[in-house]
Amino acid sequence: MIRMYGVSMSYLASTYALRDVSLDVGKGEFVFLTGSSGAGKTTLLKLLFAAERSTEGQIIIRGRNIARMRGAAIPELRRHVGVVFQDFKLLNRRTVEENVSVALQVRGEAPRIVRAKAFQMLKQVGLQNRRHDYPLSLSGGEQQRVAIARALVNDPEILLSDEPTGNLDPDLTLEIMDLLVQASTRGTTVLVATHEHGLLSRYGKRVIHLEHGRIARDVPAHDVST
Ligand SMILES: Nc1ncnc2c1ncn2[C@@H]1O[C@H](COP(=O)(O)OP(=O)(O)OP(=O)(O)O)[C@@H](O)[C@H]1O
Ligand SMILES: [Mg+2]
Repeated sequence: MIRMYGVSMSYLASTYALRDVSLDVGKGEFVFLTGSSGAGKTTLLKLLFAAERSTEGQIIIRGRNIARMRGAAIPELRRHVGVVFQDFKLLNRRTVEENVSVALQVRGEAPRIVRAKAFQMLKQVGLQNRRHDYPLSLSGGEQQRVAIARALVNDPEILLSDEPTGNLDPDLTLEIMDLLVQASTRGTTVLVATHEHGLLSRYGKRVIHLEHGRIARDVPAHDVST
């Protein structure tokens, strides 16, 4: 589903944010990306939806090298990639339902279908009763759940999430993580960048450790159900 070969990226001529990264992530796989601040987690996620461009290497998504993708191919790629980033805020002047509906409307879905899908998605994140409220009247965790609903409503093949639980308390953190894990069990390939070491051991998912832009360790998923 995602394949990177020898990917390097530098924002500034003299330093690399990512250096010779190669990895392979299968359909429906759930992967944590971790590493200290500045290791390259956000950069790696941004390359995967062409928000930044790599300097070298290939990034194959859905059979196409997106490293050199231009023009209309980029919005087409993004229709298949949901993102939950902390700096991608909700629209505060739109209701919860409208926030979740935007992506469907852009695709030209009929209003009746849009309402039904948005309702179904909000139900999954437990916010169907808040659908007519505005984001600022919701708690941080509720807002984050709306952001996840918005990213998942299109049923993306890939979900990229950068520190999705950054400011949340431990209970909400697990609630959000469970939503992301559920998405992967339904076939979405999920990549989550996080600093939170507790999460890594709790879920037993594959963990890719970045250090100074390189993959330092790639630890496969293991069973934690006992
Ligand atoms: N827009 C930018 N311009 C220049 N350098 C950048 C830019 N964004 C990131 N960098 C640099 O690239 C490197 C990787 O940054 P990145 O944001 O990917 O790290 P990160 O692992 O997400 O860190 P954090 O845990 O703090 O979010 C860092 O050295 C950072 O300073
Ligand atoms: Mg980051």
